[in-house]
Amino acid sequence: MSTFTANLIFSVLFVVFGATRGFLGNGDKFRRKVSVELNPGLTPPWVLPPGVGLVHVRGLGLNDTLHFLLCNAGAPALLMVHTNSTQSVVQVDWPSFINRSSAGSLKVEPQSSVQYSSALVFTRVWEYDDVNNTADPQQTAESSFYPPYELQNFLWSDLNETLDQSGLTVKLCGGERTESFLNGSLCLQFSAFESVGRDQPWPSLHHNANSSQLHVWLNGVTPRGNHSRFALEFQSVGDSGFQGRVDVHSSIDDEYTPSIFKVSQWVSSPVNQSGVWGYNQWKPVAYRKAVPVFEDATPCKHSQLVSMKRIPQSRLVQAYFTEHPQTHGLNISFGIDKDPVFYSDTKYISWTVLVGMGEPPADSFSTLIIIIITVGLGTPLVIIIVGGVFVWIRKRRSHSSGYEPIN
Ligand SMILES: *[C@@H]1O[C@H](CO)[C@@H](O)[C@H](O)[C@H]1NC(C)=O
Ligand SMILES: *[C@@H]1O[C@H](CO)[C@@H](O)[C@H](O)[C@H]1NC(C)=O
Ligand SMILES: *[C@@H]1O[C@H](CO)[C@@H](O)[C@H](O)[C@H]1NC(C)=O
Ligand SMILES: *[C@@H]1O[C@H](CO)[C@@H](O)[C@H](O)[C@H]1NC(C)=O
Ligand SMILES: *[C@@H]1O[C@H](CO)[C@@H](O)[C@H](O)[C@H]1NC(C)=O
Ligand SMILES: *[C@@H]1O[C@H](CO)[C@@H](O)[C@H](O)[C@H]1NC(C)=O
Ligand SMILES: *[C@@H]1O[C@H](CO)[C@@H](O)[C@H](O)[C@H]1NC(C)=O
Ligand SMILES: *[C@@H]1O[C@H](CO)[C@@H](O)[C@H](O)[C@H]1NC(C)=O
Ligand SMILES: *[C@@H]1O[C@H](CO)[C@@H](O)[C@H](O)[C@H]1NC(C)=O
Ligand SMILES: *[C@@H]1O[C@H](CO)[C@@H](O)[C@H](O)[C@H]1NC(C)=O
Repeated sequence: MSTFTANLIFSVLFVVFGATRGFLGNGDKFRRKVSVELNPGLTPPWVLPPGVGLVHVRGLGLNDTLHFLLCNAGAPALLMVHTNSTQSVVQVDWPSFINRSSAGSLKVEPQSSVQYSSALVFTRVWEYDDVNNTADPQQTAESSFYPPYELQNFLWSDLNETLDQSGLTVKLCGGERTESFLNGSLCLQFSAFESVGRDQPWPSLHHNANSSQLHVWLNGVTPRGNHSRFALEFQSVGDSGFQGRVDVHSSIDDEYTPSIFKVSQWVSSPVNQSGVWGYNQWKPVAYRKAVPVFEDATPCKHSQLVSMKRIPQSRLVQAYFTEHPQTHGLNISFGIDKDPVFYSDTKYISWTVLVGMGEPPADSFSTLIIIIITVGLGTPLVIIIVGGVFVWIRKRRSHSSGYEPIN
């Protein structure tokens, strides 16, 4: 009898567990063989200006290749090119790229294999004196804005020294030759991935082999106002025939990014067709310390997508896109209404975005949450069943013992 009960409990738990697991889908097994090279094909006498570099990440799939190119000549940009060939290569006409970055001086060959390309460019850092404490650039008078930091004019530390071939990361730090940047810098950390996973530090975005990540932080910059807040402007350049929109989804699981239940994604779909081909995805949170903890999290907001008349001042983008690319931009502003903490309090703010092709990754329940659900749903069922069995046994006992119930 007890084995029967135990079996029953087990199968109930198993069914509940299996159902939650199956319903939510399990881990993606897709992998790419990823390799990194710096300045592909650059040979003397051609040299890039000091601190400037072009990082090429090649992610080889079974019958496709996903190229990522990161370049800090001009405004820092990340270009993503997906091809349906395992033989596709990046070709740079270095003299032309260095001199004028004329359109067509950087190509992915064979061009017929290119399925999708898009670039993300960090263009400006806006600073404003938030005297009304709205943390909203759109509600702030224009007179409260300081001249923006134009990232196309920044000087950068040597890329070569921060390139980690095995970890598939590279760090870029730069700034202006001004008082504000004497002890400060804007940094970008790029990461590529061979398979699905999450970074340890928050926001712990869910990445896969079809994505890469940019972590951006502003450290030690002297604010120009007493209530300075910042916003980061970025632009996306893509082929014509695609349209973008920014969606905000509720996230079911905040275990990886505590207290943040939303995920924002700027997706790109072919005009008149469904399906997403590329995305920039982020959680609306920024951190005020280098090691993120709960107290140092602050919400961030994005502005409306706006169409830009010109492509941004990035050499990579100017060299790659030849046929009427489209450019859209938006601002991410850090901080929230009535937030008593301003940039000057920690002199640090960081934010993370995932850039990838195909459908953006969706958060799924972790094993811990699944166990909690299983126990939560399973326990009442087990109690009911055990209770039922117990009553049934009592009834049988009282029947077989020969005593008749007293009416
Ligand atoms: C590429 O490979 C995947 C799985 O390996 C397959 O589903 C897909 O049809 C292949 N695509 C082409 C164009 O061969
Ligand atoms: C750079 O471009 C200019 C204008 O096209 C040209 O006159 C010059 O010769 C080029 N320099 C090199 C080194 O290619
Ligand atoms: C790759 O895509 C092009 C069109 O974009 C198509 O003509 C070609 O057949 C495809 N090649 C493979 C191997 O699927
Ligand atoms: C502060 O708020 C007032 C009233 O809404 C507005 O008139 C003023 O322009 C705001 N000041 C700044 C610097 O944004
Ligand atoms: C990068 O640095 C290493 C050593 O620090 C050097 O051997 C290599 O030539 C450098 N590469 C480039 C492209 O500058
Ligand atoms: C930069 O740091 C040095 C030493 O920590 C300090 O003396 C100086 O005042 C700082 N400058 C600025 C502009 O913050
Ligand atoms: C990544 O892209 C490949 C090729 O298009 C596709 O087969 C695979 O399912 C994608 N994986 C994810 C996690 O999106
Ligand atoms: C910042 O505050 C100090 C002292 O309260 C004041 O002297 C200074 O003018 C203020 N600066 C700005 C830019 O408002
Ligand atoms: C999209 O659909 C509209 C109306 O149905 C049509 O006018 C337009 O040409 C289509 N655009 C493309 C790129 O197919
Ligand atoms: C970003 O914000 C600044 C200041 O409000 C504004 O001038 C600029 O046009 C915005 N950029 C985009 C792409 O919306």
